[in-house]
Amino acid sequence: MRKIVLAGNWKMFKTQAESEDFLKGFLPTLEDTPFGREVILCVPFTDLNVISRNLHGSRIQLGAQNVHWADNGAYTGEISGEMLTEVGVRYVIIGHSERRQYFGETDETVNLRLRAAQRHGLTPILCVGETKQQRDAGEAEALISKQIKEDLVDIDQSNLIIAYEPIWAIGTGDTCEAKEANHIIGNIRSQLTNPDVPIQYGGSVKPNNIDEIMAQPEIDGVLVGGASLEPESFARIVNYQ
Ligand code: 13P
Repeated sequence: MRKIVLAGNWKMFKTQAESEDFLKGFLPTLEDTPFGREVILCVPFTDLNVISRNLHGSRIQLGAQNVHWADNGAYTGEISGEMLTEVGVRYVIIGHSERRQYFGETDETVNLRLRAAQRHGLTPILCVGETKQQRDAGEAEALISKQIKEDLVDIDQSNLIIAYEPIWAIGTGDTCEAKEANHIIGNIRSQLTNPDVPIQYGGSVKPNNIDEIMAQPEIDGVLVGGASLEPESFARIVNYQ
């Protein structure tokens, strides 16, 4: 049975005070959320503690947006698995396209970070996806296959989530057609040794397209940027029909 996983990625948004305000609005809306849906908030490092302390036994799981491959060391600006688990983090996004594009993340470093996450008992959310240029050149599927192959070397597929995030659909309002995302996610699944790995779609997921996205048979959840920043819109997504 594949798990349904609905995750917000706050990226570099929200101070601690803003996080608390979000929770005040969002926590009550979870009373309507059907059982069996995993709800995750992947927040900036400085917000982890305050969210952890304000969950009040709610079903929200805590996620981070990166983890370093070493257990500790002289790596200025990085964060270790132990630092994350100590504050209650269970999930961590790895290989987001913004990390690959702006911070030099490669399939090799993504693989190292995935290994470290699993070594510390964290469940990684591995992001893959193509640029518009790669899509227009008909290279999307080959590129995604390469990412899956190289990123998952020696990775335990029983503790893994994958997010298909076409880069051209991120933050643009230009969503990938639900059927096209379903097709690509089916292809990703065919490359895995464990068919039960939850595979999410990400890229301009909004209250007005969530129901259609979640109706697709291959799509097990969503990774949401902008629409996860407001309690009302993220609640509508988490409580999709
Ligand atoms: P948007 O939902 O803002 O397009 O962002 C998607 C994303 O990058 C989630 O990781």
